[in-house]
Amino acid sequence: MNKIIIGNLKAYMTYQDVKNYVDKITDNVILCPSAIYVPYFLNHNYKVGLQNISCYDNGAHTGEITAEQAKEIGISYVIVGHSERRYEQNETDSQINKKIVKALEKNINVILCIGEKKGENKEKIIKKQLLSALENVNDLSNVIIAYEPIWCIGTGITPTNNEIQTTIDFIQTILYEKCSQNAKIIYGGSVDKDNINILKNIDNLSGFLIGKASTDCEHLKKIIDSL
Ligand code: PGA
Repeated sequence: MNKIIIGNLKAYMTYQDVKNYVDKITDNVILCPSAIYVPYFLNHNYKVGLQNISCYDNGAHTGEITAEQAKEIGISYVIVGHSERRYEQNETDSQINKKIVKALEKNINVILCIGEKKGENKEKIIKKQLLSALENVNDLSNVIIAYEPIWCIGTGITPTNNEIQTTIDFIQTILYEKCSQNAKIIYGGSVDKDNINILKNIDNLSGFLIGKASTDCEHLKKIIDSL
């Protein structure tokens, strides 16, 4: 298996759930738990990502986790710009850009989520999201783009392989024009053990960002084993 698999555990799990979960998954996955459980996952030798990061440096910023703090404890990935933060927390393009710059400065890999709402002009919104998030970023070596159509997150619906393929090509074109580099692009939104057998056939897709299905270790294992 050479696909990138990322589990976005969101805020689904209790501590008891976490204790039942660890040690049951292979290390072929990057897990992004709630921040309070990060040390527990790190102690069990997982590759661990945060679900968010501060746009500030260390200092008087109540409730924030900075890139320096994350790096020091062993975090190697961070999800930035997830739609649940863009729309529930009103996170702006400019904040997203600052978070990305801070993470990359500390050599933390960024998983940048982009995607359109149903009915939105997909190309227009994706181009805007990409270019504003990656302002002043010219090296994509430590950036993974997660294409997550918002109408597919948590809905059980996925686009057709053709639709995803076309969007991936569009994203590659924009990023190549900007950085003269190919990007690693993954898909997220209702990935599960059944549709993975269809989705895995998409050309040029580097992997998957999995939400709800990743919180069940047996389910996640089935997905990993299918790849
Ligand atoms: P889902 O979430 O797999 O539960 O649809 C994906 C995501 O939000 O990253």
